Amino acid sequence: MSNETVHSDREFMARRDAARERIDELTGAKGGNTDDRLAWFHTVYKEAGGDPAAIPWADLAPKDAIVEWLAKNPGEGRRAIDIGCGLGDNAEALAAAGYRTEAFDLSEDAITWAKKRFPDSSVSYLAADLFNLPGEWQGAFDLVQECYTIQALDGDLRAKAIEVISGLVAPGGMLLMINRSQNEDGDAKGPPWPMKPSEWRRFEDYGLKLIHEEFYDIERPGRVIPHVRAEFFKEV
Ligand SMILES: C[S@@+](CC[C@H](N)C(=O)[O-])C[C@H]1O[C@@H](n2cnc3c(N)ncnc32)[C@H](O)[C@@H]1O
Repeated sequence: MSNETVHSDREFMARRDAARERIDELTGAKGGNTDDRLAWFHTVYKEAGGDPAAIPWADLAPKDAIVEWLAKNPGEGRRAIDIGCGLGDNAEALAAAGYRTEAFDLSEDAITWAKKRFPDSSVSYLAADLFNLPGEWQGAFDLVQECYTIQALDGDLRAKAIEVISGLVAPGGMLLMINRSQNEDGDAKGPPWPMKPSEWRRFEDYGLKLIHEEFYDIERPGRVIPHVRAEFFKEV
């Protein structure tokens, strides 16, 4: 059986549960200091040994919220970047929608894996740390797309991520942000740490204007997970 099995497959889910237990025990799994948290992502991909069941966030398909948005916002050759692209599905959706797409992830293993999954891709994949990006990326992208990466970062890392991501958007460009959400008075524990409105509104401190926000739920066995898809525009 291929590793690219759908999540409803019972055997895949059993492997996922086992992996989740194992990686939850690793240093950095629950947050902690910057180095430990970032090292945790490296370890998760490395120890997965090529099995996507061992990557808890790998759906092996682009997120519906992105596909739906792209159907109404085709790229027409504009330049896009996917932040923390993991195994590449969202980046591939951007490219399929007509964006000239670049995508990066902290983990070299994730990038090698994404390239292997999509050998004929037009996406330019790169291993890079959000907190140490190439200078030429500043203000360079017509669309910056962030999905589930901010929610995986807490505290100072989250605050810094919001600043850095803002800086990538070109004048006249957009940011599309998709994350778990909670009310301002929510106290949901992470990881992942759902975002509060006051947190995504911090993009406005860095020259972006919130133009649309949409709330939706994703249902999982025994729970409902609130999400937000927010769009921001950078004035020319
Ligand atoms: C929860 S996953 C989301 C992956 C993908 N965006 C998705 O929607 O499935 C967060 C991703 O961000 C990456 N990441 C975490 N910290 C990063 C950093 N400092 N720079 C670049 N990527 C980072 C992780 O390696 C991981 O692939």
